[in-house]
Amino acid sequence: MPPKKPPLVIQPTTLWDYPSQHYGSDVQGDPRYKGATPSYIIWNLLQRYTREGHLVIDPFAGSGTTLDVARDINRRALGYDLAPTSKDIFRADARKLPLEDAKADFVFMDPPYSTHIEYSDDPRCIGKLDAAGPDYYQAMDEVFAEVDRILRPDRHLGLYVCDSFVKGRGFFPIGFELFALLRRRFTPVDIVAVTRHNRTLEMGNYRAAAETGNFFLRGFNYLLIFSKPADGSGQQRERAGRTPKVRNARDGRPPRRPGAKGRKPLSPLPPKAPGRGRKPRTPKGTR
Ligand SMILES: C[S@@+](CC[C@H](N)C(=O)[O-])C[C@H]1O[C@@H](n2cnc3c(N)ncnc32)[C@H](O)[C@@H]1O
Repeated sequence: MPPKKPPLVIQPTTLWDYPSQHYGSDVQGDPRYKGATPSYIIWNLLQRYTREGHLVIDPFAGSGTTLDVARDINRRALGYDLAPTSKDIFRADARKLPLEDAKADFVFMDPPYSTHIEYSDDPRCIGKLDAAGPDYYQAMDEVFAEVDRILRPDRHLGLYVCDSFVKGRGFFPIGFELFALLRRRFTPVDIVAVTRHNRTLEMGNYRAAAETGNFFLRGFNYLLIFSKPADGSGQQRERAGRTPKVRNARDGRPPRRPGAKGRKPLSPLPPKAPGRGRKPRTPKGTR
């Protein structure tokens, strides 16, 4: 039975749950495309942060979900990808978009999250860079610089991303790392958690592996929302190397370093759950 389609409404909270990939009787993007973005997410962002006629840019257009949603609600849109899936999408590297400065009213990005999916043979594909090393973050920072260049001041961007856990190698908090990079150029607006509905999350062998191996399956994606300052100061802030200082909300002083002054250190890793019988097959990726 196909998943029940939730109504297409603006989400009031920071927890979104879409059991269906597509709204309405049509499809947006391509349901067969591995890693397509649920169209409800893009619809919600465009409703909140754009108006009719605004120009929406997707530097990682994939199967074209952003283009279809934009068309549905009378926004103009341009999609770029190293491996275009249709003639509506232009072949370009997200780090070097063929677009003039300050043209975009909104940028949506659902980039590769490490190496879980093989998107194309193009050596520039960011999906070939492992999030365990610095090259992935360097590449994404170059994308963010390009987004800063094309985005108009006082406009928004959305980044849809997931952390990664790889058995034997550990946890990679990609969401936090990319949040920190974006914050050097843009102003944080909010963070939404979007429930993941990947089939593997319901599969017995994956669930058993998570229990016996004492790790977690990825239950949500981050949707990071940022805006570009009205004075367009993003690039200047980055050049000057100024990152905003986080202050204590009560007394305005910088927050205490974790573990400082008599604080009990956090306990180390929890004990391993006891093994049970046959070892389940271990999932490779998490996407
Ligand atoms: C998660 S998919 C995007 C899915 C898309 N939002 C959709 O709904 O179909 C990531 C895309 O990024 C593309 N990509 C990877 N590296 C890229 C780069 N350097 N420049 C442009 N596109 C890139 C891949 O080819 C892939 O299509």
